[in-house]
Amino acid sequence: MKDEIISMLVKSQDYVSGEEISQKLGVTRTAIWKHIKELKREGYKITAHPRKGYKLEHYPDIPAYYLLKPFLKTSYLGHTGEYHDLIGSTNDRAKELAASKVPEGFLVSANGQTAGRGRLGRSWNSPSGQGLYFSLVLYPNLPPVELPGLTLLAGLALAQTLEVLGVNVQIKWPNDLLINGRKVAGILTEIAAEAERTIYAVVGIGINIEPLAEEVKSSFAYPATALKEHLPEVSRQSLLALFLERFEKLYEEFKKGEFSWSLTEYKRRMAFLGEEVMIITGDREYRGVLHDLGEDGSLIINDGKTIKRFAAGEISLR
Ligand code: BTN
Repeated sequence: MKDEIISMLVKSQDYVSGEEISQKLGVTRTAIWKHIKELKREGYKITAHPRKGYKLEHYPDIPAYYLLKPFLKTSYLGHTGEYHDLIGSTNDRAKELAASKVPEGFLVSANGQTAGRGRLGRSWNSPSGQGLYFSLVLYPNLPPVELPGLTLLAGLALAQTLEVLGVNVQIKWPNDLLINGRKVAGILTEIAAEAERTIYAVVGIGINIEPLAEEVKSSFAYPATALKEHLPEVSRQSLLALFLERFEKLYEEFKKGEFSWSLTEYKRRMAFLGEEVMIITGDREYRGVLHDLGEDGSLIINDGKTIKRFAAGEISLR
């Protein structure tokens, strides 16, 4: 109910009468007034005028889909969603919702997570208000073998978003975002598929926003940084809206089979290209020069004798 009231106020950007809200939502004006009081306690600044109704003057920088509406330029990503102040994992929730067929582009976001998950079974530290945590539900009509490309696209879209905002980033294959060699964001894509058909894909993104406490920094497997250390004024809402816009463009091209431009753009930002790296896949370790990115998004390593392709793994500098 509160979400719907906020949605109406955000959309209007002007006064909305208590009568109009109560009619639209089918509840009494007293009920509306109680919700407004609660919203004010949560940090929303709402002016009440005896004749004109309610006007939203200011709202907190939380990544809720209903607050993105005024500046969201997508045709479907983020148009529907669910926002949680605290949740276990937005990816877990998005998978449940995907199984019940919520619309494509459904956005599950949270202020904090208690069981945030990273790649390779790691956990993703998600303290409330300190990062941007969200997951998107997609139904790509593609065979599962083509889906690794989707994760690369999400990484590229996020890199482009951060560049538009004014920071230079590199992508550590497959999809860690680095600023000056330190990890600022990670992506966890999970899919449900049959041999030939994808049922759904959930793309989950975690971005460190607020400067990190020392104990958080040391919980990362890789040296970490936070966006506000580079862009002190960044807002989670505008970052999310810009990302959704970029990602929707790339995703639409990808579905039409137009992937090569994105790969070129990805490669321009790829960390460690031409350098000696180590790649770990399962319990195996390989060493060699990071030679290239394959046309399917795989990683190509040259160990001086053979050239090997990797579809998954974790790379680091040797
Ligand atoms: C990684 O770098 O290992 C991937 C991290 C992905 C974290 C995000 S936060 C939102 C979404 N929900 C999760 O539980 N994980 C992803």
